[in-house]
Amino acid sequence: MKALVWHGKEDIRYDTVSDPEIEDPRDAIVKVTSCAICGSDLHLFHNFIPAMLPGDIMGHEMMGEVVEVGSGMDGRLKKGDRIVVPFTITCGECEQCKRGNYSVCERTNRKKELADKVFGHTTAGLFGYTHLTGGYPGGQAEYLRVPFADTTHVKVPENLSDEQVLFLGDIFPTGWQAAAQCDIQKTDTVAIWGCGPVGQMAIRSAVLLGAKQVVAIDLLPERLSMAEAGGAITINFKEESVIERLNDLTEGKGPEKCIDATGMESHVSFAQPDTIYDRAKQLIAMESDRPHVLREMIYVCRPAGTISIPGVYAGLIDKMPMGLAMNKGLTFRMGQTHVRRWTDDLLRRIDDGEIDPSFVITHTAKLGDGPEMYNVFRDKRDSCIKVVLKP
Ligand SMILES: NC(=O)c1ccc[n+]([C@@H]2O[C@H](COP(=O)([O-])OP(=O)(O)OC[C@H]3O[C@@H](n4cnc5c(N)ncnc54)[C@H](O)[C@@H]3O)[C@@H](O)[C@H]2O)c1
Ligand SMILES: [Zn+2]
Ligand SMILES: [Zn+2]
Repeated sequence: MKALVWHGKEDIRYDTVSDPEIEDPRDAIVKVTSCAICGSDLHLFHNFIPAMLPGDIMGHEMMGEVVEVGSGMDGRLKKGDRIVVPFTITCGECEQCKRGNYSVCERTNRKKELADKVFGHTTAGLFGYTHLTGGYPGGQAEYLRVPFADTTHVKVPENLSDEQVLFLGDIFPTGWQAAAQCDIQKTDTVAIWGCGPVGQMAIRSAVLLGAKQVVAIDLLPERLSMAEAGGAITINFKEESVIERLNDLTEGKGPEKCIDATGMESHVSFAQPDTIYDRAKQLIAMESDRPHVLREMIYVCRPAGTISIPGVYAGLIDKMPMGLAMNKGLTFRMGQTHVRRWTDDLLRRIDDGEIDPSFVITHTAKLGDGPEMYNVFRDKRDSCIKVVLKP
């Protein structure tokens, strides 16, 4: 079959690879009908996340048709079913899965010993996302083996298009979880850094969850326009001070809830000297992430407020103002998304017409054009916000 394969830094190729096969009774094979490129794929593309190996198949946001099931499926999934595949692989039986903490499932990471050593404890297996999380082949491919498929799937009805439901596998529940973790009250100002696909989903989620005002921060006009269309007040951080504007919008008190939908690749800018420092340290491998947004959030967040972090961080960050966070009594919530915790509710909301996540798609291309679409998405060329690929 054909797939997008990681060969090294900024080197993704459309290769012929072996077809996946059933390896375990709980496996299913899915013929992928749509998949997407995620901001997390860019961190792998730039080789900022350790433990990728040449030959790894990319992709963790995908859906398709079940073409084969293992013998242990218990009737829960059958040939012909149309499913979205959550990027977090979940066993459904361990202590963490029983609590709904699916992204830290204790059983699905087949490289558990590595994760135990690096993270202190294992986290869930993830598709197409480094050997620290199992090194499972991803779904930017014609076919995908889904391990633990009896619990790692979301069945979707025929009346909804691929474009409407595809993002149930990642960015929609990710934006939703980021907002839900803020316990939004109707008096709250929610500030969201980053208007990429995750930020866009967080904006709409915060609006649906009843925030008083949602403020979205980025520098790309087309992303800020999309944020505004979703109900946000916008701040272009190239043109004005984020801190001054957020204080103005909150009578000097700062937003109660702050969401980091940017992650480890915060932009480098001469107007923000700490970003130059981080970039220099990152280049000599003295720091893995660029945490400018985290510093800004801690500074501007209202005392006793919440910092919610869906943005991905890989390892060690420097110059974190923990003293400010401690004295202000801030609460930190973060994590890879517990996808299955949210998908029943979110699928119902899509079906009821409350939200249509396809608004975020700006580019649709063939899987074979994937290597070029990585460059387009990375460079935000042609106003690119979200790419969907068709095998
Ligand atoms: N927690 C999870 O399970 C999960 C799931 C999906 C994605 N993610 C992560 O979420 C983050 C966002 O993903 P995406 O797909 O939206 O990516 P993206 O790269 O398209 O979006 C990031 C946005 O942040 C903006 N940005 C950069 N520096 C900024 C700054 N200083 N202030 C404000 N905005 C700034 C960029 O202009 C860009 O629009 C990534 O780190 C990704 O890895 C996490
Ligand atoms: Zn993702
Ligand atoms: Zn589990």
